[in-house]
Amino acid sequence: MMRRLLYDLPLVLMALPLWYACCATPSAGNVTLKDALKDKFHIGVALNEALITGRDTAGVRVLEQQFSAIVAENCMKSMHIHPEENRYDFTLPDQFVALGEKNKMWITGHTLIWHSQLSPWFCVDEEGNNVSPEVLKQRMKAHISTIVGRYKGRIKGWDVVNEAILDNGELRRSKFYEILGEEYLPLAFRYAHEADPQAELYYNDYNEWFPAKRDAIVKLVRSLKEKGVRIDGVGMQGHVDMEYPAIEEYEKSILAFTQAGVKVMITEFDLSILPMPDRNVGAEVSAGFEYREELNPYRNGVPAGRMQEWTNRMGDFFDLFLKHRDKVTRVTMWGITDRDSWKNDFPIHGRTDYPLLFDRDYQPKAAVSRIIKAAEGVGF
Ligand code: G3I
Repeated sequence: MMRRLLYDLPLVLMALPLWYACCATPSAGNVTLKDALKDKFHIGVALNEALITGRDTAGVRVLEQQFSAIVAENCMKSMHIHPEENRYDFTLPDQFVALGEKNKMWITGHTLIWHSQLSPWFCVDEEGNNVSPEVLKQRMKAHISTIVGRYKGRIKGWDVVNEAILDNGELRRSKFYEILGEEYLPLAFRYAHEADPQAELYYNDYNEWFPAKRDAIVKLVRSLKEKGVRIDGVGMQGHVDMEYPAIEEYEKSILAFTQAGVKVMITEFDLSILPMPDRNVGAEVSAGFEYREELNPYRNGVPAGRMQEWTNRMGDFFDLFLKHRDKVTRVTMWGITDRDSWKNDFPIHGRTDYPLLFDRDYQPKAAVSRIIKAAEGVGF
């Protein structure tokens, strides 16, 4: 027996690096993100089509090992899930929900009412004129109740309205606002609640550390609550960079939303390492800047010192989330690996960014063990 063991041992040792490269996702020791954060908050990630369909097998492996919550990056937005008034496409959303259920993950639906990636038919008639308020209400109700109803009891929380407030605190002049005024916000939440009374309902936005925007969101939460409309949480997107925002400003918003009586979730976190052409960009999808070489400095890799600065800042944000683990219920990364990130093309097309926790070879960055150590250090 002993001789057999001694005989096999070298073979096992030789095979280990091979197993490590293809199957293991190393972290701090063998502890994964979801293990370390288990009693703190859900650690989530946005799934693109390749992950949902399983085509990205290495990505799915990281997903299943490291994350406890998922959100769909694109496939539940109206232009994809409801491309024509009488046609829904549930192919990818169904696979997305099944993947989450298989892995017992917290599943969030993103997003019901958003001005962007909006189905072209949604707010207009056949001539392209705005529909009447009554028609838009019917369309919103049909859209929300069909989608939320389909996943009733399975999708645990919904980004009901996305990005309705501008950085200056005014309501965005979207088609929904043009036709219905601010009434569209409570209506959307009411329709979602009717379709699944158990589901949590969220308002989700970027740049929420801007004081005017923070105040406007607090006002919105309070006004929904005064009207008796269910709202459970505010989603803070993240999409931060190396300069902005100051951690203290981000913290002020966590505190302000909590004081308004809702949970906070960090819904779309990524930390760009690249220079930003404008500090106000956030995730304003209409923003775009011309490519210049000096704005794409890390095409062939990031110098160690700069990467360390990135790790430190990512660690500082997670320290903040851990400090407020009684208020923050979920932290969701906007993608698994740097290669998947929308930041490679925003706000300038064709750059090489490094905003996520796993590198282009699916390996965890130093920030992963930094986060795990911090989580293990704070207790419950
Ligand atoms: O599907 C097509 C594909 O067929 C084509 O080959 C490719 C060529 O560029 O484009 C693909 O569509 C892109 C899609 O992402 C899927 O990758 C769209 O052009 C692109 O506009 C779209 O961008 C998405 C963006 O929302 C749209 O506004 C990003 O992936 C997605 O990460 C981003 O997510 C939003 C959140 O929903 C809300 N908060 C801000 C956040 C970042 O903008």
